[in-house]
Amino acid sequence: MGIRFYNVTHEYDSYSKKTYKAIQNISLSIESKDEFIALVGHTGSGKSTLAKHMNALMFPTEGYLNIFNETITKKRDKKVKYNNLRRQVGLVFQFPEYQLFEETVEKDIMFGPLNYKVPFEEAKRLAKEAIQLVGLDDSYLKRNPFNLSGGEKKRVSIAGILAMDPKILVLDEPTSGLDPHGRQVLMELFSDIHRKTGKSVIIITHDMDLVYRYFKRVIVLKDGMLSFDGSPDDLFRSDIIEQNHLDLPNTVKALKYIKDKQGINLDIYQKTPEEAAIELRRVMTHE
Ligand SMILES: Nc1ncnc2c1ncn2[C@@H]1O[C@H](COP(=O)(O)OP(=O)(O)OP(=O)(O)O)[C@@H](O)[C@H]1O
Ligand SMILES: [Mg+2]
Repeated sequence: MGIRFYNVTHEYDSYSKKTYKAIQNISLSIESKDEFIALVGHTGSGKSTLAKHMNALMFPTEGYLNIFNETITKKRDKKVKYNNLRRQVGLVFQFPEYQLFEETVEKDIMFGPLNYKVPFEEAKRLAKEAIQLVGLDDSYLKRNPFNLSGGEKKRVSIAGILAMDPKILVLDEPTSGLDPHGRQVLMELFSDIHRKTGKSVIIITHDMDLVYRYFKRVIVLKDGMLSFDGSPDDLFRSDIIEQNHLDLPNTVKALKYIKDKQGINLDIYQKTPEEAAIELRRVMTHE
């Protein structure tokens, strides 16, 4: 069960008539429960392309996938129940405006559940619950999604996916464009959903502070290829960060600076400012 990639390559046709391999020879497994994965890599490394394969929104041009026991190859297959599969793997796009199309926020959130034959009143209840979950109040339900700010649109598109209660949630940069408080609220929400339901959550992000603080597993893409798949602790202690021109978390960066400049023997691998402060106090009172 879950999602398996078997040597998946996706080649886009480009205008210059040359083809372009956005992802190359990717093999990986994502379980249907208990995963909390950050997908990182520099701009253009293939993260969104990889995510779109996870619910068969895009088909591989080479290799194949297995998604909840359905086999996905380069051709659309009449036997595969794509609708069913997309209900199990909910994908929130990087640019939410592509996902919103109804005239009210409420109708937009209800669309998915209604599509899967949830009764009207129940869908309405799910919409109300979902909008609150993403930190917006009920008054948003009657608003036109096109008149919302970028951050609000993002939250509404997330609410639409939450209302469908998928087994695996894939979120493409859900916290980008949000203010720091909004970012924290959403990360706590995803982390809560994961903890309480055991749902697998995959989040694309450039924010290494979030990666270190919240995630159990990190997948790094470099030029469309898999460059790392393991724990955040192993990633930040390895030279993959430098090789991929990725950032260290701010706590690690600050402690490393102090360690190198002052020659103090610190454990620089602290996930939060609070933990960093405790470590600093420990060495200072020790000396
Ligand atoms: N429809 C398309 N046609 C041609 N090339 C594309 C298309 N979509 C994406 N690409 C190219 O494929 C590569 C990977 O794109 P992708 O959107 O997957 O990257 P990403 O890692 O999500 O980047 P970002 O961090 O900027 O969102 C990029 O070089 C991009 O220009
Ligand atoms: Mg992207």
